[in-house]
Amino acid sequence: MKLSINMAMTLDGKVVRPDGRWYGLTSKEDKQQMDVYRSQSDAIILGKNSIINDNPIVKIRAFSNALNPRPVILIRKGTIPIDKHVFEESDHIPLVICTKTNLKEIKTSLENRAEIFALDADDIEPKKVTGILKRKGYQNVLLEGGPKLNFSFLAGDLVDRIYITVVPYIIGKNGLPGIANHTEELPEFDKNSWKLVNSVTKGNEIFLTYEK
Ligand SMILES: NC(=O)c1ccc[n+]([C@@H]2O[C@H](COP(=O)([O-])OP(=O)(O)OC[C@H]3O[C@@H](n4cnc5c(N)ncnc54)[C@H](OP(=O)(O)O)[C@@H]3O)[C@@H](O)[C@H]2O)c1
Repeated sequence: MKLSINMAMTLDGKVVRPDGRWYGLTSKEDKQQMDVYRSQSDAIILGKNSIINDNPIVKIRAFSNALNPRPVILIRKGTIPIDKHVFEESDHIPLVICTKTNLKEIKTSLENRAEIFALDADDIEPKKVTGILKRKGYQNVLLEGGPKLNFSFLAGDLVDRIYITVVPYIIGKNGLPGIANHTEELPEFDKNSWKLVNSVTKGNEIFLTYEK
């Protein structure tokens, strides 16, 4: 199974606005390119905060007969509201992966709207997630963050590819995350460089593909 991060970042490397959300900074071309990546994937992993803050639409809109990837949502604590696009507009019933700590809460709130897979642990280990997705037969999985989730999968050495769109804005405010965010650095980050395998310019944006 191949796992690919897909994120857009500003010229100063930020992936969220000062209000903690991401909207309005990507072009029509970027949305189309995202749909290309999604149409090549069978599942798409989303973080809890991204769903709460951004309420993303994961259904492909650029091509009429594309197969939509299945949303996979990781929630360690608590739950998320049911009135999010991911529950209302997906072709597939989302897969929610939770822990033994929040299973009861997740069942109460999402039982009829998602397939629920509870891990027998208090944390969601990314390797367990890729194991579950492999067993379900998924071959190309897109990880659409946010930065906390991206960090967890990178720290587990589970990411094969990174798609980055550079958008032509500079935010400047300190403390806003880049594509991966945690209190510690990735171990041996300076010994693990990524290979640039593709770069395309469209309008004022650059679309980069890096691989291991
Ligand atoms: N620029 C872009 O392309 C782009 C794309 C996506 C998102 N974003 C931005 O990113 C922001 C959110 O980023 P974020 O980093 O705060 O949140 P996130 O990565 O979306 O979600 C993190 C949350 O997911 C849960 N989680 C479950 N398993 C986890 C694991 N193994 N590792 C880490 N977290 C796990 C945790 O919540 P619990 O412990 O509470 O369950 C954690 O706080 C959004 O507001 C959005 O604006 C930008």
